[in-house]
Amino acid sequence: MSKSYRIAVIPGDGTGPEVIREGLKVLEAASQKFNFKYEKIIYNLGGENYLKTGEILPESVLEELKKVDAIYLGAIGDPRVKPGILERGILLRLRFELAQYINLRPVVLYDKRFTPLKDKSEEYIDFVVVRENTEGLYCGAGGFLRKGTLDEVAIQESINTYKGIERVVRFAFEYARKRNKKRKVTLCGKTNVLTYAFDLWERVFHKVAKDYPDVKTDYAHVDATCMWMVKSPEWFDVIVTDNMFGDIITDLGAIIQGGMGIAAGANLNPQGVSMFEPIGGSAPKYTGKNVINPLAAICALAMMLDFLGEEEAGLKIEEAVKRVVREKLESLAAGRMGYSTTQVGDLVVNYLES
Ligand code: IPM
Ligand code: MN
Repeated sequence: MSKSYRIAVIPGDGTGPEVIREGLKVLEAASQKFNFKYEKIIYNLGGENYLKTGEILPESVLEELKKVDAIYLGAIGDPRVKPGILERGILLRLRFELAQYINLRPVVLYDKRFTPLKDKSEEYIDFVVVRENTEGLYCGAGGFLRKGTLDEVAIQESINTYKGIERVVRFAFEYARKRNKKRKVTLCGKTNVLTYAFDLWERVFHKVAKDYPDVKTDYAHVDATCMWMVKSPEWFDVIVTDNMFGDIITDLGAIIQGGMGIAAGANLNPQGVSMFEPIGGSAPKYTGKNVINPLAAICALAMMLDFLGEEEAGLKIEEAVKRVVREKLESLAAGRMGYSTTQVGDLVVNYLES
């Protein structure tokens, strides 16, 4: 009997619905070809819904999301809403409440035409960032003192727990084994300045590393990591880092792999409900024009199927994406692909079916 999955879909803001539409097209084709079933439950969360109803993420929706097999998310962020309300209220709240403590972001170059790095071909850019996803500066700990006066103080604290670090570092080592490429994990931190937080990170990192004698270890400060990602990206295999540094270096990662149009990520809770998303934003200026690149969302779908246990479907979708990138597209950027959003989705479906 074929398996069946319950998938919550949050198209979200801006171009989110356009890229999710293409992802769902590919999901349908994959379910036929690889013989699995799915039920999709659409949730219209985001700026539009907030402005209309005042609701951000209702408790009842959160409870429902805790019971699905996976969440497929487009984008959150609306220029009409003050920054932070939707991002904290929907995206970060879901990551936290569902304890999606790993943010897995592959940095893979499918075609050397699309990297801005000189002399770097496909074999040079193939690593993953494992970003801690529920702690650090993202916790929202801190506050204001004497707000609105000239003596105002703003404090934003970084929370780092032994448990939180241990589980994400362990995942990084396991993942280096699973990838079976360079078998190397690089801790990205700032031990020379953040002497409490990254002292703990470093101690936990070396403790966990003892359980993986077959995996090499390395360390780079976050600023140097940025430099190496440009100069010698081939040095990396798996990078593990905290929430804030992970956020920053994955935008750099996205651009060296060809841009936000192709960069996907997974918010994982290996024991619970995981959420899959293109890592670019809602791209308001391209909304409704059918020009946005849906491949990041389609790659996120491939990651979702892989994590659900449909590994072959995930792999074949990735292969189809790679062929579209290499054989068809003129660019990975919105409006310059040589095809519309819809056409790119169709191309992936065609390659998948052929
Ligand atoms: C990301 C985004 C989010 C983050 C924002 C939208 C809150 O930049 O997923 O990388 O900072 O994590
Ligand atoms: Mn980001």
